[in-house]
Amino acid sequence: MAETDTQEAFVAFERVQKSYDGETLVVKDLNLAMPRGEFLTMLGPSGSGKTTCLMMLAGFETATHGEIKLGGQPINNIPPHKRGIGMVFQNYALFPHMTVAENLAFPLEVRSLPKSEREEKIRRALDMVQMGEFGGRRPAQLSGGQQQRIALARALVFEPELVLMDEPLGALDKQLREHMQFEITNLAHQLGITVVYVTHDQTEALTMSDRVAVFDDGRIQQLAAPDVLYETPENSFVAQFIGENNTLLGTVKEIRNEYAVVELDDGELIDCKPVNVSQPGERTLVSIRPERVEINAERLQEGAHTLKAEVLEFIYMGDIFRTRLRVAGKDDFIIKTRNAPDQRRLRPGEKIEIGWLPDDCRALDA
Ligand SMILES: Nc1ncnc2c1ncn2[C@@H]1O[C@H](COP(=O)(O)OP(=O)(O)O)[C@@H](O)[C@H]1O
Ligand SMILES: [Mg+2]
Repeated sequence: MAETDTQEAFVAFERVQKSYDGETLVVKDLNLAMPRGEFLTMLGPSGSGKTTCLMMLAGFETATHGEIKLGGQPINNIPPHKRGIGMVFQNYALFPHMTVAENLAFPLEVRSLPKSEREEKIRRALDMVQMGEFGGRRPAQLSGGQQQRIALARALVFEPELVLMDEPLGALDKQLREHMQFEITNLAHQLGITVVYVTHDQTEALTMSDRVAVFDDGRIQQLAAPDVLYETPENSFVAQFIGENNTLLGTVKEIRNEYAVVELDDGELIDCKPVNVSQPGERTLVSIRPERVEINAERLQEGAHTLKAEVLEFIYMGDIFRTRLRVAGKDDFIIKTRNAPDQRRLRPGEKIEIGWLPDDCRALDA
């Protein structure tokens, strides 16, 4: 795992734990180091501890154990408004009785910026999010997307080096959300700010981030660049949380030449890459992406194990074909094939053989 050295990190969590009730840990031994300028996303199911981590970094919660550092300095004793951190929340958190311009002036007043400098900064922040015309409106007079832009401008107006965003696009419809994803990443890179972004939406995490920290149960399960995460998940949780995935249960028969032969529960043998299995007899969940399954025997490696499959359903999706198969007694095995001129369209009832490169099939914890 390519982790940044905490010594030179801009943001660092060192062995951080958090308990709200003095009994259960909702964040467990968290270590994370971010270089300046990184866009890092905390991705995970609800309740996995993402918001708690963000709140500790912002200074609204304190860590029960461990240390959080900003620019090499512990921040435990620095109050939130002195940390130079901008924040954006899902529910916008704009002040309803204030105009847009007054909302943006607020973080500048808190930081005692002279009035003469305020106006220029507000104008620039509104222009950044293409809301220059809206300074005089109140939040209720704006659409959801516009309010979210204002919340973003308010987080950026005092030129913070670090911006924290907690599910900022969760309330927007799909099209606007995708547009804002693009705007936020562009703006972050243009301004060179460091971003910690929280979402439970894996597509959002993959498309926006330099690195993604996958959270479950108060721990980072894997921290990696999006392509590494998708192609080389290190455990079953990550494999199933990120992207679509087929899983088959089996037992390791042997491990040889860096490959494992796994006997599936219905007796068939397949070749896999042993990821977190180490010896024969171990139970394993093998994981294979739908787009890596081969239905054309000529494209398989010589001597590769193949599996019998029965076509249950064929769905034409335009750019791809999505076909559901019965494999090793399971009815939910999905394959995706590109709609190429020579691609076969499978028919329900058809009996076929499928296979894959051993490197694409990962034997993970069961
Ligand atoms: N203020 C709080 N007091 C007590 N428990 C909390 C508080 N905030 C969050 N929790 C609990 O901590 C766990 C992690 O929550 P949270 O950090 O909000 O997760 P996420 O943002 O990943 O959904 C959950 O079990 C949640 O119920
Ligand atoms: Mg949350």
